[in-house]
Amino acid sequence: MSKFYITTPIYYPSNKLTLGNCYTTALCDAIARFHRALGDDVFFLTGTDEHGQKIEKIATAKGMKEIDYLDEIVADTKDLWKLLNISYDKFIRTTDDYHVKAVQKIFNKLYENGDIYKSTYKGKYCVPCESFWSEDQLVDGKCPDCGREVVDADEECYFFKLSKYEDRLKKLYQEGKNFLLPESRANEMINNFFNKGLKDLCVSRKTVKWGIPVEFDKDQTIYVWIDALSNYITALGYLSDDETNFKKYWPADVHVVGKEIVRFHSIIWPAILMSLGLPLPKLIFGHGWLVYGGGKLSKSKGVDKKEMLDPRVLCARYSSDAVRNFLIGEISFGQDGPYSQELFLNSFNGILANKVGNISSRLIGMICKYNDGLINGKIHSLPEDEIFVAKIKELKADCIQKIKELKPTLSYKSALRIIDECNTYIDVNKPWELAKQDDGSQRISAILYYATQAMLEAYTLLDAFLPEKIASVLKLFGIEKVKIDENACCNFKIDGIKVEKIQPLFARLDLNKEQQELDEIANKE
Ligand code: MSP
Repeated sequence: MSKFYITTPIYYPSNKLTLGNCYTTALCDAIARFHRALGDDVFFLTGTDEHGQKIEKIATAKGMKEIDYLDEIVADTKDLWKLLNISYDKFIRTTDDYHVKAVQKIFNKLYENGDIYKSTYKGKYCVPCESFWSEDQLVDGKCPDCGREVVDADEECYFFKLSKYEDRLKKLYQEGKNFLLPESRANEMINNFFNKGLKDLCVSRKTVKWGIPVEFDKDQTIYVWIDALSNYITALGYLSDDETNFKKYWPADVHVVGKEIVRFHSIIWPAILMSLGLPLPKLIFGHGWLVYGGGKLSKSKGVDKKEMLDPRVLCARYSSDAVRNFLIGEISFGQDGPYSQELFLNSFNGILANKVGNISSRLIGMICKYNDGLINGKIHSLPEDEIFVAKIKELKADCIQKIKELKPTLSYKSALRIIDECNTYIDVNKPWELAKQDDGSQRISAILYYATQAMLEAYTLLDAFLPEKIASVLKLFGIEKVKIDENACCNFKIDGIKVEKIQPLFARLDLNKEQQELDEIANKE
C-alpha cells in the first residue's frame, strides 16, 4: 500500500465560496477518492486561511470580532464541502491552536538558522492577494496578479533570506525533475521571477494585528503566507507532541493550487522547507481558472450575476455530481476553461443524462425485459465478446494511468468511453432482434452479462468523480465499497443477481426551462 498525500490550498474565508473556489477541491477530491479505491493510504487535506489584513478589514467593516466572523463563514465552507461530497481527511483552520504554536516554532527555527533578519520594508502591498510588490513589478500601478489597487507599506519588519536559496531553487527547475507542472508554469516562474533575481521577503507585519505573533517580538505578526503555507506540515503534527502523521505522509505527493498562487508554492514554500531542512513536496500542480468573459470567474470581477450562480444552488437542483462533472470533465486540468450556465446545462444532458445515467437504466431495462431481471452468465459467449473485454481493459488501464499522471480530465473521459463502447456493443449485438429468434435467449444472456460487466467497470472508475449517484447502482450488483482492481477486468461476481427496473440516475433537462428558472433565481439573489 503506498501513501498518497494531496492538498488543496486553504481558502480565504473572505466571502462565501464560489464555483471557482470549488474547482481545486472537487478535482483533488476525485483524485483522492480514486487513489483510495486503488488501495492507497490517502491523506487529503483542506482548510481555511484565516489571518491577515483582508480578514481584519472585513471583520472591522462588519463590526464583528474576527473569530466570530470566521466561525460563521468556516461553518458555511464546511457545509459546502459536504454538499459537494468532499472526502477530506483533515480540515485545518489556521486559527487552530496547534497550528498557531507550530507556526511560531517554525518562525523561531528560521530565525535561529540565521535566515531571518530585521529591517524596514518600503513598497506596495495588495490586500486582497496579501502580496508585497515593488514599484517596478506593478502593472499600470496595480497588482500584477489581480489588477486591483495596491497600498503603500512602510514599516519595520522581519525579512526571510530568500536570495540565499536562489541557486538551489533554480536547480529545482533546471534539473527537469518536473517539480512544477504543467511545464508552462515552470517557464513562467523562471522568466518572471528567477531571471529578475530573488529578493528577500518581508515575513512579518507590524501594522497587522490579526495574525500569529512572532514569539520573540510581540509587536510583529507573522506574514500570512508563511502562516498559510506552513499548514501543509502543521496539519500533520509537525513540531507538535505527535509527529506520527508527519513522519508517515510528508513529503506531500502533490500540492494542487490555482495558477495565481503558484509562485508562493514553488518559490517561497520550497525555500522555507530548505531552511527547515525538510524534504520538498514531490510536485506542485498549478491548474487554470474557470473563466467568464475572459477573466477569472470571481464575485469581485464584475461577472454577470446570472452566470455567478451559487454552487449550493447548482448542487441542490442538479446534484453534486453535476457540478463535479462540469468542473472535472469540461475544463482540461492545467488550462483555463469557460463557464456559463448554458455550458453547464449542456454538459449535464450530454454526459450525465445521455451517457452515465442512460447506460444503467437502459441495460437494467433490457435485463428485466429479456432475462426476467436475472444475470445468468456467459455460457454463450463468442470471440467478439473477448475483443470487447480487451477494449474495456485497455480503457480501464488508461483511466488508471491518467489519474496516476495527475490528468483527471483525461481519466474521466476514458471511463466515459467505456460507456460508449458498452452502448456500441449493445447496438451491434441487438438483443431486441435476438429476442425474436427461438434460440436467441442464451446469446441475449451472454450479451447482457458482458455489457453489465463493462458498465460496472465504468461505474467503479466513475465513482471517484461522481460519488453521489453511482453508488446506488453499484449496490444493486452487490458492490458496497468500490475497489479498483488494476489486474482484473470484467470479472465482477454478478452471476445469479436479480435486478429490478430503475429510474435514470440523471433525468434529461429541458434546457430552455432550466435556463429561465436559473435566471430567475440569479435575479432574486
Ligand atoms: N488562501 C490562499 C491559499 C493559501 S494556500 C497555502 C488563497 N485562497 S483563495 O480562497 O483565494 O483561493 C483558493 C483556491 O481557489 C485557489 O487555488 C484559487 O486558484 C482557486 N480559485 C478561485 N477562483 C477560481 C476560479 N475562478 N477558477 C479556478 N480556481 C479558482 O489563494
